[in-house]
Amino acid sequence: MSNKIIKLPKGTKDCLPQESYIWHFVEGFLKRKASLYGIKEIRTPMFEYTELFLRGVGDTTDIVQKEMYTFNDKGNRSITLKAEGTSPAIRAFIEHGLNSNVQPTKLYYITPVFRYENVQKGRLRQHHQFGVEIFGSDSALCDAETINLAYSIFDDLNIKNNKVYINSLGCKECRPSYNSKLVEFLNDNKEKLCSICQDRLGRNPLRILDCKNENCKALLNDVPSVLDHVCSECSDHFDDVKKYLDELNVNYEVNHNIVRGLDYYTKTVFEVVDESGIALCGGGRYDNLIGELGGKDCPAVGFGLGIERLISVLDKELNMVEDERLDLFIINYDEEYRTDVLKLCNNLRKAGIMSDIDYLGRSVKAQMKYANKINTRNIVVIGRDEVNSGKINIKDMDKGTVTTLDFDIDSIRKYFS
Ligand code: HAM
Repeated sequence: MSNKIIKLPKGTKDCLPQESYIWHFVEGFLKRKASLYGIKEIRTPMFEYTELFLRGVGDTTDIVQKEMYTFNDKGNRSITLKAEGTSPAIRAFIEHGLNSNVQPTKLYYITPVFRYENVQKGRLRQHHQFGVEIFGSDSALCDAETINLAYSIFDDLNIKNNKVYINSLGCKECRPSYNSKLVEFLNDNKEKLCSICQDRLGRNPLRILDCKNENCKALLNDVPSVLDHVCSECSDHFDDVKKYLDELNVNYEVNHNIVRGLDYYTKTVFEVVDESGIALCGGGRYDNLIGELGGKDCPAVGFGLGIERLISVLDKELNMVEDERLDLFIINYDEEYRTDVLKLCNNLRKAGIMSDIDYLGRSVKAQMKYANKINTRNIVVIGRDEVNSGKINIKDMDKGTVTTLDFDIDSIRKYFS
């Protein structure tokens, strides 16, 4: 067998011990944020029957057309790794009858998402999303609350220079007439579109509005605006969303080219983008999707936020997050008393004091060096003298001070309280 080093798959990332504390911080922060809004966690499997995403995400989308990780299992069922979080949350909502509970149902999830993307800056084949889905209300208040929640995540984390774009895509009634106006305009200008958009014209013309190609972007200045074509109900709804966002001091911009990459949106859509235009978060209302997936008709709104992308913009500002530090490293110089040190360490951990010992039989000097390297808060040296005298000296590594204590768990506990 070859002993060549095996690398991690393209488009995936390891989370190493020196960065996992940032993930703990971010996940804790997001969970707390959700709790503040009365939103409860839902966990769904890493894979679903493929049909869920075909119907949920829409078969004209890039995700369904080329990005899903789909395979047949041993029972010959078509399975797809979670390609987004909304459809699985809806599947669970319907399957477990949550729709007959009192509404709204407010859910959040933190989950890996798998998409076979062209790997480039910020685009992974496995990324993680914090998602929020609120089922059971068609009120503009709910859209505003959802956008405000997303906005406040970046605001609280002191992430600057991002923009919040909002738009309305209309509903079942008004979208078709806008779509035909758009297609008419784009057909008249077909030769100016990039090859990908020429292909999109036939299957998903709305997506052309957020193409990043310079020629397409230039054309978009003259494209008919969806906001000029939405019906009065959608227009009033959008006005209310804006009114509430103003009241909440959310700093947003209306951008009629925000269309999102998934088919299910109706009325409000929004994105939070960083200064280079990368989407940190995106979402909107999807009032038809629950019905389309077999549930009773139920309005809904939500968003997904890319955790890797959030961390990449957080990193630079990051002095609010500190890695966890060991409370005490116990240095042992005496083989004969190793068991005393082992037992002490065990009792300290039971008392909630983060402690560790040497496993490698290092010299006292090397253990000190190691304790320094792992940035422990305190050290103590224990061997024959300490056990016999019943006294130990704990050194605070930050202050450099040494405190003499009785060698018993209660006095050590008191030192750390
Ligand atoms: P999405 O826009 O496809 O929406 O993804 C949401 C967020 O996930 C993006 O704004 C981005 O931050 C992050 N993201 C997406 N793809 C990648 C990738 N390849 N690599 C790294 N990060 C990525 C959804 O998935 C919808 N389910 C959101 C939603 C929930 N709408 C309503 N409810």
